[in-house]
Amino acid sequence: MNIAILGAAGQTGKQLIEKALVAGHTVTGLARSPEKILFDDPRVIKRAADGFDEASVIAGLEGADAVITTVGKTNLRDKRVNLSTAAHAGVIAGMRKHNIKRLLAISSTGAARIKRDGIRRNIYLFLRRKYYRDMYDMEVQVLGSGLDATVLRAPFLINGPAQRQYNVIKDETYPNGSRVSRADLAQFALDAVEQGTYINEVVAIADPL
Ligand SMILES: NC(=O)c1ccc[n+]([C@@H]2O[C@H](COP(=O)([O-])OP(=O)(O)OC[C@H]3O[C@@H](n4cnc5c(N)ncnc54)[C@H](OP(=O)(O)O)[C@@H]3O)[C@@H](O)[C@H]2O)c1
Repeated sequence: MNIAILGAAGQTGKQLIEKALVAGHTVTGLARSPEKILFDDPRVIKRAADGFDEASVIAGLEGADAVITTVGKTNLRDKRVNLSTAAHAGVIAGMRKHNIKRLLAISSTGAARIKRDGIRRNIYLFLRRKYYRDMYDMEVQVLGSGLDATVLRAPFLINGPAQRQYNVIKDETYPNGSRVSRADLAQFALDAVEQGTYINEVVAIADPL
């Protein structure tokens, strides 16, 4: 498969590329600065795309068989709070244009609309409420797109090797405060795309308790 990754220069993007190559895929890596995709491999096609520039995302997806998105705010001075919905509008339009059916969008457990315990947790969620609202809106946008879409909610991300053991939680009932490695997040995403699992579902993963 040719798997397009939006957010390819990020930390989870790097893990996704590594694992996709090991599995024998080719990768179309989309990033604002494609030179930051640090893979010197002919199976990695690098293209410039900005989630706020719909045309660049649409063009960037040409030739892909599936898309994984892993975009997240990295510049705290950028006050825009609609990165997720803006980027996925381009992704959905590009997938329709290029007849690509399979999409896995990485979201956050922060987007889930459930009651949380803990004052610190609730203060954090309140401060980031606009971003999580945007992520939630993106989830609705993706699941309503008519594509074979999966929303994968990530908890707090850590570095370290993949364990390939996940606590997989559907709907809105995941445990608070859990974490997972970016390597496991990437492996889970890749497996779901390869195997066609969790279509039109929201899933959250975390390390086994
Ligand atoms: N970190 C956490 O604890 C956590 C928790 C829950 C969910 N998540 C989600 O999990 C995913 C992976 O997180 P991570 O920490 O591994 O990611 P990360 O390293 O922060 O990478 C995010 C990527 O998004 C890209 N990006 C930002 N704005 C963009 C734009 N306008 N157009 C295109 N690309 C853009 C960044 O590109 P540049 O390199 O150009 O800045 C960066 O490569 C993200 O979707 C994040 O929201 C993270």
